[in-house]
Amino acid sequence: MAAAKSPTIVVFDSGVGGLTVFREVRRARPDANYVYVADDACFPYGAQPEDLLIRRVTDVIGETIARHAPDLVVIACNTASTIALAELRARFSVPFVGTVPAIKPACAQSKSKRIAVLGTLATVSREYTRALIREFASGCDVELVGSPKLASCAEAELAGSPVPDAEIKAQIAACFVDGDGRRTDTVVLACTHYPLLVERFRANAAWPVDWLDPAPAIARRVADLLRARLPSPEPASPPQIVFTSGRAPSPALAAALAKFGF
Ligand code: DGL
Repeated sequence: MAAAKSPTIVVFDSGVGGLTVFREVRRARPDANYVYVADDACFPYGAQPEDLLIRRVTDVIGETIARHAPDLVVIACNTASTIALAELRARFSVPFVGTVPAIKPACAQSKSKRIAVLGTLATVSREYTRALIREFASGCDVELVGSPKLASCAEAELAGSPVPDAEIKAQIAACFVDGDGRRTDTVVLACTHYPLLVERFRANAAWPVDWLDPAPAIARRVADLLRARLPSPEPASPPQIVFTSGRAPSPALAAALAKFGF
């Protein structure tokens, strides 16, 4: 009997943020072949109009599926998932795993019942996010905090040009709410770029909180969906990274990418 072929998994984001999801998924399925697609030609997604973004994501994913025939696609981007997942699932038969704000687990784990959701301006203003709050946040106060800059700050951090602390502090300040004797104790990282900055967030926080990164849960979902595909005895090929702009990474970014296995 022929040996099982390693599955191919595409991980997609507007830039390098989805690497925070990729590293967890790869840990869960080290035997898979990976193609990481960064749509940096259209970065930042948080500043794009919704109709343009749906078309853009559908086009790039369509081309990627045609070229790589993946077994599963991870949309490792909250800004894209909260607007384009339904269209992607309607168009393509390959299974998709999306990344949406982890409001349910954050409310469940919060002791003060006061949480914040830190995402792009687009993600925090989406109906998808508001529906998650209506459905899963009863009994919990949720502060929606949109940042126009943090995704770019994360790109700069990974490329070896970190922004000053004052910038980070200003972007996260609204997460910290102290009212009725209850302080925010959990902040949902609702943009996949933000785990790249989590140590900066900790250093600039008004008080200690739990910064909730959904990547391990996304990796578990991928593993569940691929459970039928047993690990192949064949070694996986090295992961590939594609920048839609066609840019060559700077030496500092190339060194950072090497740490992710590229
Ligand atoms: N990484 C993306 C997210 O999870 C968005 C960053 C952007 O392009 O604005 O929302």
